[in-house]
Amino acid sequence: MMQTVLSLETSCDETAVAVVRYEAKKFKVIANCISSQAEEHSQWGGVVPEIASRRHLEVMPFLIEKAMNDSGIDFSDIDLIAATVAPGLTGALLIASVTARTLSSFYGIPFFGVHHLEGHLASILISDEIPPLPYLVLLVSGGHTELIRVDNEIEFKRLGRSHDDAAGEAFDKVARLLGLSYPGGPAIEKIAKSGYSKRFVFPKGRISMPGGGFHPYDFSFSGLKTAVLRQVEKLKLSSKEIPVADIAASFEEVVAEVLVERTLNCAIDEGISSLVMVGGVAANNRLRELMQKKSKENSIKLYMASKAFCTDNAAMIGAAALRRSILGAAPSSIELGVSARLGLDQSNLLYSSSPPF
Ligand code: KG4
Ligand code: ZN
Repeated sequence: MMQTVLSLETSCDETAVAVVRYEAKKFKVIANCISSQAEEHSQWGGVVPEIASRRHLEVMPFLIEKAMNDSGIDFSDIDLIAATVAPGLTGALLIASVTARTLSSFYGIPFFGVHHLEGHLASILISDEIPPLPYLVLLVSGGHTELIRVDNEIEFKRLGRSHDDAAGEAFDKVARLLGLSYPGGPAIEKIAKSGYSKRFVFPKGRISMPGGGFHPYDFSFSGLKTAVLRQVEKLKLSSKEIPVADIAASFEEVVAEVLVERTLNCAIDEGISSLVMVGGVAANNRLRELMQKKSKENSIKLYMASKAFCTDNAAMIGAAALRRSILGAAPSSIELGVSARLGLDQSNLLYSSSPPF
């Protein structure tokens, strides 16, 4: 069976269009176009929703044209049209959704609405090696930090999560208070290279359980961000120069350590020997290195999304839509809208005949 999807992603500040093909049990990315607005949002220290929607609208037609040209196919070769429909910025999500549904009706091609996190999880399908089931996924992005057990390809069981900031959000906020650019992850990673990671000891946030003790797999990053802020304020009071590289390195190290520790504890407790790491923060080299080392020590095989498919892209959205279609899901209703919030455990609803929104 061969199936080809044209997929669109506009949930945040990346406009992305891809063409992905499923053939001989493999997912192949035929075109992958991304136009990032990060630089424009950088001057505001974060994403401005209104600006994001406008830019998506402006570049979308050209990005579709480019993806079609790069792939060398035309609309008669496309079996599915997919778009991210939740979660994300509502106005931004609407651009991909309306464009995809318009193309779907015009060409008579089935439409598949995709959950953004299911897309991140599917990024492992377009990487070098596909993990065997069951596996545990650490999904670390700008909006989510979750540990998800996958026993069957489209059944996701959340075992851990952050109770406040996501790991990527912590990178973005700490970068901002250190005067670094947005997005914070790559900026911190760059400057941390020349820093000393043992200079500052920052806390590994923990979540108390009602009956006493700490939750073994949940995360908290807001206290860490505050600890960095306090350290910076203290140094400023003593009018010393702020050692930005050392702070960045110490922060990056503690985030990597806490993610690796709790993920491995979870995998070991669950008796799972395949671990998957996806999402924007999974592009971080220190995290990749530490996760690889500790997985090996515990005889766990680690599968990481390729760096290019860690941060937001449309290829992962196409792969998720293809997987749904291959597993027999009906296309989404052409009346399916978008939603700023929808849990990953609700993503089945996107393929029901009565759309949830
Ligand atoms: O997955 P993603 O592109 O978008 C969301 O769905 O949120 O993740 C974006 C997040 C941002 O917070 C960004 O700072 C972080 O991923 N990020 C990184 C790196 N590259 C992106 N964090 C740490 N190190 C990186 N190299
Ligand atoms: Zn994302």
